[in-house]
Amino acid sequence: MKHIHLDKIKSLEGPPKKVNIFSDKEIEMIKELYQLLPERTYNKKQNVKKKAWEQNYNKELDKIYFNKLREVLGDFKMDNLKSKTGEDLYGLFHESFKPLPIHVDSGFNPEDIIYKQIVTPLAPIGDTVFFKKRWYGRSTTFTVDPEELKFKPKADQNDRSNQHLGEKEFDKEIHKKYLSHLDINNLRGMEIEYIYEWKVGESLIIDRSHIHCASTRIKEKKLGLTTFTKK
Ligand SMILES: [Fe+2]
Repeated sequence: MKHIHLDKIKSLEGPPKKVNIFSDKEIEMIKELYQLLPERTYNKKQNVKKKAWEQNYNKELDKIYFNKLREVLGDFKMDNLKSKTGEDLYGLFHESFKPLPIHVDSGFNPEDIIYKQIVTPLAPIGDTVFFKKRWYGRSTTFTVDPEELKFKPKADQNDRSNQHLGEKEFDKEIHKKYLSHLDINNLRGMEIEYIYEWKVGESLIIDRSHIHCASTRIKEKKLGLTTFTKK
């Protein structure tokens, strides 16, 4: 799959942007909502707990969240799958105990005009590493493991690919400092665009097409909220 409206998607792209849109109180409300929500998946292999932001648990907060995103993003639609009752989910909470591998959240529908991804840290220690390379196929996890590459995804699961690879050896210092959980061969040809150091109270807005992963720096666990949007 390849996105059809590539020109449109690219015209909406820009550099990563940090914003302070939520007050301390609102961050607390988001954390409380997280406690309230039912657990959705627990991926043992990646050691990540996920919960989806379902509407109507805290209607006031639903409104605040949507309106604040609207202020910084302009017109957008949510693109985080739907709840059982067919309502838009407002994001996914990730509680990870181990850094996430290299991937892209570029979506599953070739007709969609993918837009921005908003990352809101809810617990302090961690980084998200963004690479220069972009991807306009389906959401994909990048790997050099031949067994992993055989994986056949279902409709809502990531592809597996090694098509991110290039020629140039990856910077050994950066690998050691931030990405030692990854096989350095899985970073061949990749260059860093931006390393976002998590800070509670901030949100990061980035394009959906950016290939990214978590850094090694996790202190016990890392809790964040990610919202995917489209036009
Ligand atoms: Fe991601």
